[in-house]
Amino acid sequence: MADKHRIQFEPVGIEMEVGEEEKILDAAFRQGIHLMHGCREGQCSACKSYLLEGDIQMERYSTFACNDAEVAEGYVLLCKSHAYSDCTIELLNYDEEELLGGIPIRTVGTRVAAIEPVTRDIVSLRLEPAEQFDFKPGQYVDITIPGTDEHRSFSMATTQSTPGEIEFLIKKYPGGRFSALLDGELAVGDELSLTGPYGSSTLKDGHVLPVVCVAGGAGMAPILSILRHLKETGSTRPVRFYYGARTAADLFYLEAIKELGADLTGFEFIACLSESAQDSDGLQVEEGNVTEIVERREAELHRSEVYLCGPPPMVDAALALLEASNVPKDQVFYDKFTSPATDGA
Ligand SMILES: Cc1cc2nc3c(=O)[nH]c(=O)nc-3n(C[C@H](O)[C@H](O)[C@H](O)COP(=O)(O)OP(=O)(O)OC[C@H]3O[C@@H](n4cnc5c(N)ncnc54)[C@H](O)[C@@H]3O)c2cc1C
Ligand code: FES
Repeated sequence: MADKHRIQFEPVGIEMEVGEEEKILDAAFRQGIHLMHGCREGQCSACKSYLLEGDIQMERYSTFACNDAEVAEGYVLLCKSHAYSDCTIELLNYDEEELLGGIPIRTVGTRVAAIEPVTRDIVSLRLEPAEQFDFKPGQYVDITIPGTDEHRSFSMATTQSTPGEIEFLIKKYPGGRFSALLDGELAVGDELSLTGPYGSSTLKDGHVLPVVCVAGGAGMAPILSILRHLKETGSTRPVRFYYGARTAADLFYLEAIKELGADLTGFEFIACLSESAQDSDGLQVEEGNVTEIVERREAELHRSEVYLCGPPPMVDAALALLEASNVPKDQVFYDKFTSPATDGA
């Protein structure tokens, strides 16, 4: 009995092979087919597709990503799907450029160059890759938790312009399998292995719409990468960056953002403080929840490309706003910072 099956993707007409033991998204990556994806953990719904024909079974996933009614109708999450027959799958979202032209995924060794706190609970981790590591602005990697075969995903804050050092911004969770290691266990000189790049929430070259970025907490990382890329490529797209934090004490990298903004067109940085807008040192600060502030200030969201990164509740609230504001889905890019430890099922 054959345990390999053919998968036909529509409407793009791409075909590939998958073994029953392999998840469809992983098989696609292995064969250089970059399907739309986010968390790769069955939690964010970015890989949701429609099964036209065939037998697919899913591993454990979050019903927030694909609810029971959708599953009954034929929707599947490709990051959790195994094929048990030849299948035809309709891709609901795809990026023609990325599909066959994405950066190949590899594993590289790195050395810890610096670990520095930037707020009370966010740390900057700088890694020196042992060899050239290519990625696009807004992408992320899986860092292996030392001594295990588990990993956690972290977004690059830097760009290809600093190939010798990649920066990550990491929120510390008490007892977090990876993030708690940044509290003294991991040290400069230690080795870490990373695999990637992953993520479809990248900046697309050649696009012209204004860019609206919305981030919270460590979601600052991929946005910094995007801002840096816009500056490095001399982009003239207007850019606004809404950053959600609790108080002014949770803001960081303000000087770096100001410097980046000075070279960007019509740049505005709006700090959205949910608890207190006091002591914000002449910054442009709004008091309230970041999504409400975006709604209040952005009348033309449907004529923008929107990048969302950070805690899942923030991203979900912003996605609801974008839907209500009729922003076309192909103008929205997001990464929900989910954890395999909080699967939300
Ligand atoms: C595509 C993607 C990109 C990401 N990029 C980043 C990034 O740039 N920076 C970053 O800091 N993180 C990022 N994350 C999240 C990161 O991968 C880890 O999930 C997170 O750091 C927690 O891992 P941990 O091992 O420290 O904690 P875990 O051992 O996984 O969790 C320990 C405990 O921490 C708490 N916890 C963990 N995550 C959450 C959460 N999201 N909400 C509420 N409580 C939580 C829970 O109580 C949990 O039981 C990203 C995730 C994804 C999917
Ligand atoms: S649910 Fe599949 S990539 Fe997030």
